[in-house]
Amino acid sequence: MLLLLFIIVGFFFFLFDIFLELPYVATKRHKIETIIKFAQIKPGQTVVDLGSGDGRLLIASAAKGANAIGYEINPFLIGITLVHAKIKGLADHLKVYKSNLWKSDLAVADVVFVYGRKKTMQKFQDFVWQNAKKGTRVIVNTNPFPTKKPIKEKNAVYLYKV
Ligand SMILES: C[S@@+](CC[C@H](N)C(=O)[O-])C[C@H]1O[C@@H](n2cnc3c(N)ncnc32)[C@H](O)[C@@H]1O
Repeated sequence: MLLLLFIIVGFFFFLFDIFLELPYVATKRHKIETIIKFAQIKPGQTVVDLGSGDGRLLIASAAKGANAIGYEINPFLIGITLVHAKIKGLADHLKVYKSNLWKSDLAVADVVFVYGRKKTMQKFQDFVWQNAKKGTRVIVNTNPFPTKKPIKEKNAVYLYKV
């Protein structure tokens, strides 16, 4: 009964996500390794995921000792993130704001993750360059920034430095 309720509520929230400028598409498992390698996280550093989905990048970052911060609009995905973090014993290293990612605080970030549609990448590029501090490592999944040159690229994962 509880499982059925979970599936129905989940379906409702996935439907809600389809209509967003930035719908939910999770990073493929095999890309997480490249993303975390590019991030070069040192314990205590702050990582921000802009639209954190089910939290898989936050959890991988927290496991490396980061303070992982996500901005996510979908409460169902936030719930999944928090349960997953608790199960992994990483809940104290991770925070998810139910808030608009375009209002996120990037000044605190050492590392930023971006996964957007092609048509949103100019907006992401401008947002990151205007708000992140110099030296911040930015890892972009799938669609690169339109006018910045990546330092590295592998499996359609791009590394930039602000
Ligand atoms: C492409 S998914 C990326 C998920 C995750 N970062 C990953 O790599 O697996 C984008 C996420 O952004 C969320 N989202 C869309 N618009 C948002 C907004 N304005 N503010 C916060 N989150 C948003 C969606 O719900 C979705 O989970």
